[in-house]
Amino acid sequence: MAQLIDGKAVSKQIKEETAKEVLALREQGIVPGLAVVLVGEDPASKVYVSNKQKACKACHIESFGYVLPEDTKEEELLQLVETLNRDDKVNGILVQLPLPKHIDENKIINAISPKKDVDAFHPVNVGKIMIGDYDFLPCTPAGCMALIDSTGVDISGKRCVVIGRSNIVGKPMAMLLLHRNGTVTICHSKTKNLPEICRQADILVAAVGREKFVTADMVKEGAVVIDVGINRMENGKLCGDVDFDAVKEKCAAITPVPGGVGPMTIAMLMKNTVTAAKIQNSMK
Ligand code: GUN
Repeated sequence: MAQLIDGKAVSKQIKEETAKEVLALREQGIVPGLAVVLVGEDPASKVYVSNKQKACKACHIESFGYVLPEDTKEEELLQLVETLNRDDKVNGILVQLPLPKHIDENKIINAISPKKDVDAFHPVNVGKIMIGDYDFLPCTPAGCMALIDSTGVDISGKRCVVIGRSNIVGKPMAMLLLHRNGTVTICHSKTKNLPEICRQADILVAAVGREKFVTADMVKEGAVVIDVGINRMENGKLCGDVDFDAVKEKCAAITPVPGGVGPMTIAMLMKNTVTAAKIQNSMK
């Protein structure tokens, strides 16, 4: 049985450190603030947004919630982003994705001030990550890196395989592993011989969005397996992209779902909000 990578415990520690930092900033008159914008009724997004606001409270970060109806016009959302860009109490802006189909996500992301872009989705921040000179790391990949580090494995020179090429997870994840001298392969739906490539991975990151996609035959003995997937099964239970019960018998360390990557994303968001507050107060 593999080592269980405890995302709850690691995220708790990061949130506690962040809370301490926020209290110290508050003593200097700086109150970090995060605006969280939700458009529409997506049930999963509602849960994520509520969890983000709870984490703000635990970290003493001021949170400003905006819940807009599904039929909000793109122009209205752009105007809200502009208002938040100009509001000094707001250090970080998070617009929960996905947005309703009639709104151009890229347009909204481009409108967020890069200094307040705590998701690190803005092209300026994406570019900075690419060249390795960044202020914010995208929350989910940063969370995955912290979990890999918590196992004690040295990434340098290791074969790393990322399944999934999304802008939110796959692409930045590959870049962070590369910055740490991993030998990185990105796989996706058109990849030929996917199981064979995965079997070479010392570190395997699954961000596919398909229930139990990674089976035991795709995993190398002794690998570190990071499961980014959050899929709801027919019985209503959550399950990752990895067939956990089978894979845990083969790998060295694995993240559970829930309780693995999920809580880390939120902890990293808190950290980024504090970084944003520091940058905007010329402390960084
Ligand atoms: N939707 C799913 N994950 C994320 C995230 O990390 N940030 C935002 N803004 N939306 C998401």
